Amino acid sequence: MSVPAAEPAPTQTISAMPPEHVRRLVLTGFMGAGKTTVGRLLAERLGWNFLDLDASIEARTGLPVPAIFAAHGEPHFRRLESLALATALGQRNLVLALGGGALESLTNRLLLEQTPATLTFFLDAPFPVLYDRCMMQALGAGASTDPGQSRPNLADPVAAQARFHARQPIYRRHAHHTVSTADLTTAQTAAAVLTHLHQPPPRRR
Ligand code: S3P
Repeated sequence: MSVPAAEPAPTQTISAMPPEHVRRLVLTGFMGAGKTTVGRLLAERLGWNFLDLDASIEARTGLPVPAIFAAHGEPHFRRLESLALATALGQRNLVLALGGGALESLTNRLLLEQTPATLTFFLDAPFPVLYDRCMMQALGAGASTDPGQSRPNLADPVAAQARFHARQPIYRRHAHHTVSTADLTTAQTAAAVLTHLHQPPPRRR
């Protein structure tokens, strides 16, 4: 008697695929939120491309972000960031990690809002958690214990905390979904993002 071959079990990658109306996932949130690490994991799971907006600016200019800040100032960096964002949003099947300050710009917010098939996630955590993560990253990079060396806007912790509070409502308002990451690993955060993909797109607040 012949036994029918069992259907292959659906893989995680297939079940995690976004619906047709989603062609880009954008991760936002403050420095240390895990946008780059989580973004890479998501892209891997989906079989999509990953782009880190800061890395794309660095590749274009040939300069690390802190050097751009030092040589040309933050306003110049923000102009490069808007150009890089406009280019990135032309890609399909893309997971895009924004820099923490990208949504401060009205131009960037409009670019995001007006790009169809684009779901934005806010990776949230309290400021002390984010600051500690940035500190650990600076230590891990081995260069310095000062997170301000690799992230100029963390050089002054008091000013950084003020930026954090000013940005929170912007992140919340312009993301379709918020994921609280304080108690999650990066893999758990990526999984939490994936669980939102098949929910009906919520209205922006
Ligand atoms: C910035 C965040 C950084 C980078 C730049 C400015 C900010 O990106 O764009 O140093 O103002 O929050 P990450 O959020 O990836 O660290």
